[in-house]
Amino acid sequence: MRILVTGASGRLGSTLLDHLVRQRRHEVVAWGGSAAVARGTIAIRPVDLADPPALARALAEDDPDAIVHAGALSSADAVHRDPERGRAVNVESTRILAEWAGARRRRLVFTSTDLVFDGSRSWWREDDEARPVLAYGQTKLDAEAHVRAIDRGLVARLSLLFGPNGSGRPDFFSQAVQALRQGEPRGFFHDEFRTPLDYRTAAEALVRLLESEAVGIVHVAGRERLSRFDLMKRTAAALGLDLELVRSASQSDITLPEPRPSDASLDTTRLTEILPNLNRPTLETALSDWR
Ligand SMILES: NC(=O)c1ccc[n+]([C@@H]2O[C@H](COP(=O)([O-])OP(=O)(O)OC[C@H]3O[C@@H](n4cnc5c(N)ncnc54)[C@H](OP(=O)(O)O)[C@@H]3O)[C@@H](O)[C@H]2O)c1
Repeated sequence: MRILVTGASGRLGSTLLDHLVRQRRHEVVAWGGSAAVARGTIAIRPVDLADPPALARALAEDDPDAIVHAGALSSADAVHRDPERGRAVNVESTRILAEWAGARRRRLVFTSTDLVFDGSRSWWREDDEARPVLAYGQTKLDAEAHVRAIDRGLVARLSLLFGPNGSGRPDFFSQAVQALRQGEPRGFFHDEFRTPLDYRTAAEALVRLLESEAVGIVHVAGRERLSRFDLMKRTAAALGLDLELVRSASQSDITLPEPRPSDASLDTTRLTEILPNLNRPTLETALSDWR
């Protein structure tokens, strides 16, 4: 199968590329947003997701059998600051990819987010009503509808990702670890809950889901519901860092540009049914080669 990975220069996309290259089961085509780069033996083609004619041209030329759509304006703040760009990159590109795939009966797996939920309770299931409180979450929910409208589309809602990733680009987690490594105390919300999953397991799950014929929505997340404070306490312990530097903080301590869901933990019963052999390591195991 020729698999197209969009967002291949990003954190998840580059982890996906590494996984596919190691696996050697599929031909891989990679798109990124910036200037052309290469990752190992794979050239990453710059294709602007916000440019519909460029997108259509690149689809016709690369003609993939299957697509993992991991390209996005992935920062909630960036979408809040520039909602028009957020819609162009996150919603319109997904519509175009879904219509192209739907018309040809090609497989499409779309990376959505736990932030489609309002956070008012725990352990959200796929059929629970999604009511985003963030503009970013709204763009992802609107994009989901285009994927769900086609025969072979699957929406994979990911939780907070952590741990080593192929790109080496900083994220909340790596920046927090770096600060702790430098001996800087940091506050982490004790009142914001997710079901974090490491990037490598997320990449493996996405490829296996792509290879399956599952459609609709599936939640792709870790087994444990953790606050950001719990996550960083456990991380500091696993990495042998000073636990005293990990301080408890509350969402109400700071003024956020938009309210954040306080509990976006995902129920993953369906993931377990589709991929019963998927090994989701504990946080400590996932970080064991990262000391
Ligand atoms: N990381 C998480 O914790 C998390 C959690 C839930 C869901 N997700 C979802 O997972 C996916 C991947 O997230 P990530 O953390 O890997 O994001 P990321 O590191 O920010 O990567 C985003 C990718 O999208 C590309 N991109 C952005 N704008 C583009 C444009 N106009 N045209 C073409 N490409 C563009 C970027 O390219 P360049 O930067 O090279 O230009 C990059 O390759 C996203 O759909 C995100 O919503 C992530």
